[in-house]
Amino acid sequence: MDKFMEDIRIAIIGHGFMGHEHEAMLSKLEGYRLIGISDIDPKQLEDVKEGVKRYPSNEELINDPEVQVVLIAANNNQHHDLVCQAARAGKDIICEKPIAMSVDELDDMIKVVDECGVNFTVHHQRRFDPDFRTIKEVFDQKSLGEVYTLKNSLYGFNGNMHDWHIYIKEGGGMLFDWGVHLLDQILWMMPGAKIKSVFADVRNVINYEVDDYFKVLMKFDNGIMAEVELGTYYLADKPQDKWFERHWFMGGNTGSAYVDGFYPEGKIVRTSHFLTNVRGTRTMTAAGPTRSFGPPADGTIVTEELPKVNTKHEDYFINYRKAYEGQEEFLVKIPETRRVLALMEAIRESARTGMAIQFE
Ligand SMILES: NC(=O)c1ccc[n+]([C@@H]2O[C@H](COP(=O)([O-])OP(=O)(O)OC[C@H]3O[C@@H](n4cnc5c(N)ncnc54)[C@H](O)[C@@H]3O)[C@@H](O)[C@H]2O)c1
Repeated sequence: MDKFMEDIRIAIIGHGFMGHEHEAMLSKLEGYRLIGISDIDPKQLEDVKEGVKRYPSNEELINDPEVQVVLIAANNNQHHDLVCQAARAGKDIICEKPIAMSVDELDDMIKVVDECGVNFTVHHQRRFDPDFRTIKEVFDQKSLGEVYTLKNSLYGFNGNMHDWHIYIKEGGGMLFDWGVHLLDQILWMMPGAKIKSVFADVRNVINYEVDDYFKVLMKFDNGIMAEVELGTYYLADKPQDKWFERHWFMGGNTGSAYVDGFYPEGKIVRTSHFLTNVRGTRTMTAAGPTRSFGPPADGTIVTEELPKVNTKHEDYFINYRKAYEGQEEFLVKIPETRRVLALMEAIRESARTGMAIQFE
């Protein structure tokens, strides 16, 4: 990383799971000085690292002249008010995802932020996930011909929704939790492609209030049908290290790619030439004789390694640092996050009505 003239002086609101992650990250990253942390629950501040202020209130953090950037890592239903308060105090803001609970709420935040003229962006560090960057690289290289299908799935096996994440009013549920990342990744991967329609199922399989399963189908105007499926309660007798699964599949007319796991394993599988009008050779399979689903003829399939990507979550803050100095753009732009929120509203509408929704 380049040397900077001065560290960004940053403070965190909310010292729970993600607040601790940010504290650890910002304490080790060059170009940042973590000034302090606040939390509505004083107990949460007991283990704040030495040398970092423990603010008795958010107001004191927000009004501390030493603080330039406020990083909001409190419950989802707190984002609106905290963003507006920080903006009115003239602070630049990084807010955790989901940026807001609704498009209306976000529009209100944008109005305040614009009036105050501060920087505002969202912590979408999963744009740097190695599995996602691998499938994005395959897509960007256009190595599969015309892509027609993209599938992304994430499965967990214990159904464990916890703490405030089980309450609607706090912004709980998996669509807000992981859905926002999975949708953001696909939309960011295909800039310029419009979503013509959305069809979705969103369920509470074992939770009383909030969604813990969803399947979303999005038809894009570039011809791709994208599917995102998440389940927290996919019971299976998996070994310990396979209890949280991520899979990608992308299919084009000259090849397919599959990417499994967060540290991706998979292959690109291509045809040596365009396979149209192949002779219907009869093959015996476990399902009986077939002509369409038999193995490919010898010499027609070529497998290749997935592209190597070099990516890590701290790249989010490295970009932020450079963008703050005007060296590059902030990676995550507010209209992108607004579009994801609008999409999530269409997803809920589709699930409620059982109908496809015309989106863009
Ligand atoms: N980017 C990611 O990968 C990622 C991962 C997990 C959570 N998150 C996001 O981070 C945020 C926090 O989630 P979490 O799982 O860490 O929750 P958490 O419950 O572990 O932590 C939230 C903390 O915020 C505090 N808090 C609540 N309201 C507050 C207020 N008004 N002022 C100050 N502190 C307040 C709580 O006391 C708690 O300590 C959420 O928006 C969530 O969606 C992002």
